[in-house]
Amino acid sequence: MTELTTWNYLMLFGITLLVIGAQCEEKTEVFVAAGSQAVLPCVCTSSGCPSSAATILWSKSNEGTVWRKQKSGLEYWGHDLMKRVYCPHGNFARGDYSLHIEQVQTEDGGEYICQVKDGMQPVNKVVSLTVITVQLSPPAPMEGDNVSIGCNMQPLPMGATVSWMFNGKPWTGHSDADNVIVRKASPNLMGEWTCIVRNRRTEGKVGQTLIVRGIVEPAREEASVYAAVGSEATLPCVFSHGLTVSNVIWESLKESFLPPFHSLPFPPTWNLTSMSYHGPWDRSLIVGEVSVEDGGRYRCSGMADGHKLTREFKLITAQVHSKTFSSGASVILTCDLSDDTEVTGYEWVHLTYDFNGTLSESSVHQGKDLRINTAAEINSGGWTCRFYGDHGILGNVTYSIPVISHLTGDSETVGPSSNTAMVFGLGFLLLVLLLIVGQMYTNYQRKKRILLYPALETIVHSNANEREERERNRMKDIDI
Ligand SMILES: *[C@@H]1O[C@H](CO)[C@@H](O)[C@H](O)[C@H]1NC(C)=O
Ligand SMILES: *[C@@H]1O[C@H](CO)[C@@H](O)[C@H](O)[C@H]1NC(C)=O
Repeated sequence: MTELTTWNYLMLFGITLLVIGAQCEEKTEVFVAAGSQAVLPCVCTSSGCPSSAATILWSKSNEGTVWRKQKSGLEYWGHDLMKRVYCPHGNFARGDYSLHIEQVQTEDGGEYICQVKDGMQPVNKVVSLTVITVQLSPPAPMEGDNVSIGCNMQPLPMGATVSWMFNGKPWTGHSDADNVIVRKASPNLMGEWTCIVRNRRTEGKVGQTLIVRGIVEPAREEASVYAAVGSEATLPCVFSHGLTVSNVIWESLKESFLPPFHSLPFPPTWNLTSMSYHGPWDRSLIVGEVSVEDGGRYRCSGMADGHKLTREFKLITAQVHSKTFSSGASVILTCDLSDDTEVTGYEWVHLTYDFNGTLSESSVHQGKDLRINTAAEINSGGWTCRFYGDHGILGNVTYSIPVISHLTGDSETVGPSSNTAMVFGLGFLLLVLLLIVGQMYTNYQRKKRILLYPALETIVHSNANEREERERNRMKDIDI
């Protein structure tokens, strides 16, 4: 009796050892994000693999058959997973009996066994599937509320390590023993949270986007808003869609307290009539024409769903300063910002209209200063300075080089030049007319002179006749 028991124990022990040994050899870990597809590998790599006509059985420990294929080719689904699992038949010939699971759910996590039987060389594999989810609680917190970001693994893989990434960068902040991060919700926490689970050769990455409701624009505290001097600018204050917003107050922190923006006063340069009101959540202010003095700190605050929310930001003004050289033919343009701490680079682009009248731009220079020859017609038009920060373009400011008048003569519109021609033509005509009149007068004068001479002749002639007569009469007198 005792001997038998011992023998039984020994047998049991031996079988257990065998099973553990087999598991240690064959067990594969698979980490998968909930909702995605899982492939549980079961591949025969040895030479004498079963034929495609083999019997294949996929089962889940403690839950029985998941999927089965008989020698005849008949398939059976024996689990809740039902039609979410399949084995691509085309792979069997290559000794690949991997199980595919679509739309993996937390409950799918666990240990799966693959058994392929075909006479002499059976295949046995154990695959441990861990389904990972990033849990946000609450799913969309309000600014100021507590939020917990957790990495849920089902089942928990033995000896695995968990780390976090936030917006693509390793997160070094504190998380508790269960890999849960608890924080006061703020815009700084908005973005993609990725949980990375590692175990020996296996790695699983699962991401989830955290949305914090509150003020969505400016997207973060202490943001910078850039505005070109002389142009319109928007002071942003946009609440999350769907919030009930009330009691919005705008304050300029540089100057004295400003009352709620429904009432005055604001700097006189601000164009109050065009205040942005794109729905009840957008409480942005539009400044009609930004002046250098408008630069400074601003705060927008309001009540949203019973929470008092505020956002402070900096308005930074940008302008182009020009310095003309003594020769007057070239100018140095400098891109000046009231605060350039976030600026990492400047780019100058030249805006021109091509023959079709479409605006085209060409990048010409990298740097804060730009020297250009103003006498060259090609340089006339708008010069835009774009300034960049670590995350891309921050803003731009444009300077216009006036078009030089003598160069524009031929490009001027038809109207004025035809007028000029007309004036010239009329003048010429008048001149010709004057000349003609002058000529006519001269001619007339000459004619008058010619007519005068015969008259004189007559007078001379008559005088001579008179004298003759008188002489004759005198002779007569003498004769008598
Ligand atoms: C502008 O003109 C060029 C030729 O001068 C032509 O190839 C191009 O298609 C035109 N573009 C447009 C937008 O009309
Ligand atoms: C300058 O910025 C404004 C506003 O962002 C944009 O509409 C415009 O296209 C920019 N101009 C240039 C030349 O980059």
